[in-house]
Amino acid sequence: MFEQPLLTIEIPLIGEDVRILDQTLLPHRIEHVMLRDVSDVAEAIATMRVRGAPLIGATAACGMALAARTDASDTALHSAADQLRATRPTAVNLNWALQRCVDRLTALPEGERVEAAYAEALAIARIDAAANQLIGEYGLTLIHAMAEHRGGDPVRVLTHCNAGWLATTYLGTATAPIYLAHKLNIPIHVYVDETRPRNQGAALTAWELNQQGIACEVIADNAGGLLMQRGEVDMVITGADRVASNGDVCNKIGTYLKSLAARESDVPFCVAVPTSTIDPGMPDGTSIPIEERDPLEVLTATGIDDDGGVRTVRTAAEGVAARNPAFDITPAALVTTLITERGLIKPEHAGDVAASE
Ligand code: MRU
Repeated sequence: MFEQPLLTIEIPLIGEDVRILDQTLLPHRIEHVMLRDVSDVAEAIATMRVRGAPLIGATAACGMALAARTDASDTALHSAADQLRATRPTAVNLNWALQRCVDRLTALPEGERVEAAYAEALAIARIDAAANQLIGEYGLTLIHAMAEHRGGDPVRVLTHCNAGWLATTYLGTATAPIYLAHKLNIPIHVYVDETRPRNQGAALTAWELNQQGIACEVIADNAGGLLMQRGEVDMVITGADRVASNGDVCNKIGTYLKSLAARESDVPFCVAVPTSTIDPGMPDGTSIPIEERDPLEVLTATGIDDDGGVRTVRTAAEGVAARNPAFDITPAALVTTLITERGLIKPEHAGDVAASE
């Protein structure tokens, strides 16, 4: 059994508030925040106190429970879903979870909706946790095969951003096979892209892996190409925020460049996703909305100083402009395998897996 040191979200009992781990302060401070209404939830998602596609979906479902607690009318529920949907445009799990909540709740008499909304939030979290486990098991077969090939030397996995337990309700997606392999004493070494501008790799993934005792090294975002070219990476495993029906993968900015380097160096490029991340309504990646975030994230860096203060400092000159697209599209042709809870699938079959939901 994987032991998660902290809960990234505590799914509330009926009538309760929602407790989250504030990811904007990690790894320097461990602080929890209570979310008491739908606006608190919208703020937490928009400011990335909670982040990662599956966790965004589960948190939004909790937001619908808080909304129903205040006013369970059709109008109030639709308006809460609209408010939550507007927080972050790219991760489709947000839409998936909200649509499930709205469909289920509005089909019920108003008097039954509060209880049902809390139950739905729990169901969504459980679906995610079960998917994490199966993604881990299917992904483990790939790591196992690679371990045999490596003849006892560590399997070297490169990952980008954070698709770990922080980003889901259990084992993570990209990290799930890694955690299961580690439990089985399969030697593994993870190269963690730092993932500018918000450093989810350095701040979150490396922190997670360290806590589990998994060997890892943070690398600058531009280092992966060299390591792959030198044969120092056996496989890439990333998560995704949305996968189109044709298998195009939308994930954290920088993923696409890694897929190009992987193809050039014959390194398998695997994407671990629950099927709730596959968008059957999106024929290919070109129409996936790419979130553009505050340019200040590119012009600054945040960390801890020698006195223990968490500070944001400017790295570029005052007055310099920046552009900050938060995600990119990796064409299906560059993806070797999608690791889903329904098995290892070729990216071109993504739409079939989502459609059978
Ligand atoms: O902007 P973020 O931190 O929410 O982006 C997260 C990612 O890109 C993850 O790879 C993705 O959501 C999958 S999380 C299991």
